[in-house]
Amino acid sequence: MRVIAIDGPAGSGKSTVARRLAERLDLAYLDTGAMYRAVAFAALRRGLDPEELRPVARMVRELDIDLDGTNVRVDGVDATIDIRSPEVTRAVSAVAANPSVRTELICRQRAWVKARGGAVVEGRDIGTVVFPEASFKAYLTARLDVRAGRRHREVGDLAYEAVAADMARRDALDSERVEGPLLCSDDAVRVDTSDRDVEAIVEELLEKLGSGSA
Ligand code: DC
Repeated sequence: MRVIAIDGPAGSGKSTVARRLAERLDLAYLDTGAMYRAVAFAALRRGLDPEELRPVARMVRELDIDLDGTNVRVDGVDATIDIRSPEVTRAVSAVAANPSVRTELICRQRAWVKARGGAVVEGRDIGTVVFPEASFKAYLTARLDVRAGRRHREVGDLAYEAVAADMARRDALDSERVEGPLLCSDDAVRVDTSDRDVEAIVEELLEKLGSGSA
C-alpha cells in the first residue's frame, strides 16, 4: 500500500502540496487536521467544553465524520466551511491533545487509507505515529511570519497580529503535547517552503519519491 506522509505546522503549505501530490500520483488525499477540526466543531455545537476529556471522548466515538477530498460532513451536515472558523481553530488544539480523541481518529485514519489502497496523508504525526512505515515522508516548515501571512490572506477578516499570535500558541500546544506531538521523523525529507513556490516543491518531492522506493 502506497502511503505518502506530509507533516508540518499550520501554514507550512502542506495542504496545497499534499493535494497536488495526490493529483499527480493519482492517490486519494486525506487531511487529518480536518478530522480534529470536525471533532472541535461538533463539541462546540453540542455546548461541550473542548478541554473536558471525558465528554469529548464519549462524543467522538459516536461521531460520523465523512471526508471526501476537501469536503467534510459531520453527522450528515456539510461543515467544510465551518471547521475553518476562528472559534473552531481556537478550540482544536485542546481536542487534539485529548488521548481518546487521538486514538479514535488514528484508527479511522488507518481504516480510511486502507479502504482506498493508499493515500497522500497530511497532519502532524503521520510519519511518526499513524503511518511510521509510510513509503515516503516529507516534513514541511516555514518561518512563522511567512506562515502567519499565508493564513492571514486565507482568513481575511482577522488582523495579521492576531493570526500570528494564535499560530504561535497552536505551534506550542501541538509541539508540547504528550501524545503525537508535531515532530520531524528522522527519515522524512525536510523542506523549508518560506521562499519557494508550490510547483517547485511538488517537483522536488516527486523527484525524491521517484528515486526512492515509494
Ligand atoms: O492542519 P490544521 O491546522 O487544519 O490542523 C488542525 C489542528 O489539528 C492543529 O491544531 C493540530 C491538530 N492536528 C493534530 O494534532 N494531528 C494531526 N495529524 C493533524 C492535525
